[in-house]
Amino acid sequence: MRGLIDRLDRQKRLELEEWTALLSGFDAGTADYAARRARELSLERFGKRVYFRGIVEFTNICRNDCLYCGLRRSNSHAVRYRLEPEEILACCREGYALGYRTFVLQGGEDPYYTDQVLCQLVSGITGEFPEAAVTLSVGERSRGSYQRLFDAGARRYLLRHETAAPALYRRVHPPEMSWENRMRCLRDLREIGYQTGCGMMVGLPGQTAEDLARDMVFLGEFQPQMIGMGPFLPHHDTPLRDCPAGSVELTLFLLSLSRIMLPDVLLPATTALDGGWEDGRTRGILAGANVIMPNLSPVAVRKDYLLYDGKPGLTQDAADSLRSLREAVTSIGYELVVGRGDYGEWRNEHGIFQGF
Ligand code: 5AD
Repeated sequence: MRGLIDRLDRQKRLELEEWTALLSGFDAGTADYAARRARELSLERFGKRVYFRGIVEFTNICRNDCLYCGLRRSNSHAVRYRLEPEEILACCREGYALGYRTFVLQGGEDPYYTDQVLCQLVSGITGEFPEAAVTLSVGERSRGSYQRLFDAGARRYLLRHETAAPALYRRVHPPEMSWENRMRCLRDLREIGYQTGCGMMVGLPGQTAEDLARDMVFLGEFQPQMIGMGPFLPHHDTPLRDCPAGSVELTLFLLSLSRIMLPDVLLPATTALDGGWEDGRTRGILAGANVIMPNLSPVAVRKDYLLYDGKPGLTQDAADSLRSLREAVTSIGYELVVGRGDYGEWRNEHGIFQGF
């Protein structure tokens, strides 16, 4: 297994069969070996610095019906809410005062947020905070829509591909959604010029080592600027309620392998890592992650943005969320840094990178 990790480190790619072998033969020693190398690569680039981004979960209304997600439209137990643009802006103001220079606006696919409403919101935020970056995470839209949002000032977009295995994608999504359209969205985003993030859930019901191998091959080919991955965690009001949660250890191993394959990538230690394990996010950083996304949503709505059971921080306000994550990061000898944290920023600092 170590030989495969060394080869990945040298060549920055593996064949599908090699990935499958590596992922099915994984154990604690192999994970530790990968984590050490991943941490070394992160240290060379970012030092012991972690970028923090404030996430505003601005609507839990969603037209989609993904089988794993607590916000699916068929979940009649969900208490639905949407924040008005002025309320979202207020969250950003609070975040700005706390030091945030990236705002991630995430929500369900809520038809209320037309291009017009979202574009106004994006230009409102970039107008008030010119040195801040706006990241959108609002699902599948048309190419024209992505273009208009880019023109309004959004520069980053997160759209997890969820799984690169089309058959598994079909099993956990409603028939009207398609893997092909997901891929189309990701291609459009990149062509338009967004710093694009994709990513997958680890441990989806029925997911095999080969399915995950496909994810890794896809990440190597797509070369995203950001990767969001976390374990699948069941939600009690979804059809997958009785399925076992994905493994945090396997997720950490995949984070390390992602860092080794794409050393510059922005890699968040996602909230779901803490859903299965108290110190999951700090372990994510020790496995090679370099981004953390504390919650900036108003406390009143936090408990209603429940994609899965066991989400941490439901009663904390923005300042508390930041404080507790800062303490966790400090406790392992790292620090949260203020800055936009653009892809390639560390190269700019060293006078090498000329992108973005
Ligand atoms: N467990 C883990 N992650 C989930 N997501 C949605 N539902 C779940 C769940 N039950 C993830 C998806 C989505 C992101 C916003 O949250 O990957 O893209």
